[in-house]
Amino acid sequence: MAYVEFTAKDHVGTLTINRPEALNALNDEVIRQLDAVLDSIDCAQVRCVIVTGAGQKAFVAGADIAQMSALSKEEAQAFGKLGNDVFRKLETLGVPTIAAVNGFALGGGCELAMSCDIRLASEAAVFGQPEVGLGITPGFGGTQRMARLIGPGKAKELIYSARNIKAPEALACGLVQAVYPAEELMAQAEKLAGRIAGNAPIAVRACKKAINDGLQVDMDQAVEIEEQLFGSCFQSEDQKNAMAAFLEKRKHDPFIN
Ligand code: HXC
Repeated sequence: MAYVEFTAKDHVGTLTINRPEALNALNDEVIRQLDAVLDSIDCAQVRCVIVTGAGQKAFVAGADIAQMSALSKEEAQAFGKLGNDVFRKLETLGVPTIAAVNGFALGGGCELAMSCDIRLASEAAVFGQPEVGLGITPGFGGTQRMARLIGPGKAKELIYSARNIKAPEALACGLVQAVYPAEELMAQAEKLAGRIAGNAPIAVRACKKAINDGLQVDMDQAVEIEEQLFGSCFQSEDQKNAMAAFLEKRKHDPFIN
């Protein structure tokens, strides 16, 4: 069964979790397929990736509770590591990622969305970390990424209470960047992805690396990371062409790198 689909057009990839019988819940097979699809993405061709869920109802309704229910401590830790490794691969993918959250994004589904660079939501989206209601903690990075994205106070309120929130509250607390009517979500995600894909790829990729790596270190080290990446852009054809075009008051050539 193919649970993870990937298509690409005009430099924009779309990755779809497709397991409708379980609201796209993540069992180990789905996670392994996600891993393989991430490995297969050619970041020289694909300049932005949209991550979404198949169907109208769910982005991803979490890790698969049926599969998790009988795990031993060691098996649970291994399952958590499997998901963490793959979500980290997604988070550090060479090109920007946009989660198009089309419905329930609970537990591992919310964690999947938080592993993307940007989150756009449909008005029907629901976010939450229901794990403490199942006797567990979040296990695919939710305690860490949610605290970083929306601040520790709000993250603790949501994680300790296991309270789900709808799209407007997710927007208000900064968990998502925009909310659209369900029927417009993919078009809006594609529009943003197309705009990103239309910018200089080496520069966009360097921005992602600068922001992600810089957030892990103190400000002195962070600005050094930016200096290195800023400098590296000056080896690209795109930098030379775009700056020459500006100075010659003409439109720049399409970006190539
Ligand atoms: C397994 C799931 C599932 C899940 C839904 N299904 N979520 N199966 N794992 N996380 C299955 C249901 O069992 C059902 O199968 C089918 O999908 C449709 O779901 P319903 O519950 O009938 O739909 P609905 O009544 O509309 O409710 C939707 C829902 C609910 C509110 C999203 O499904 C729900 O609460 N799901 C669980 C959400 C959750 O707790 N997620 C966090 C999991 S823990 P059948 O066969 O009956 O039709 C987690 C930990 C991550 O994610 C870290 C791990 C290391």
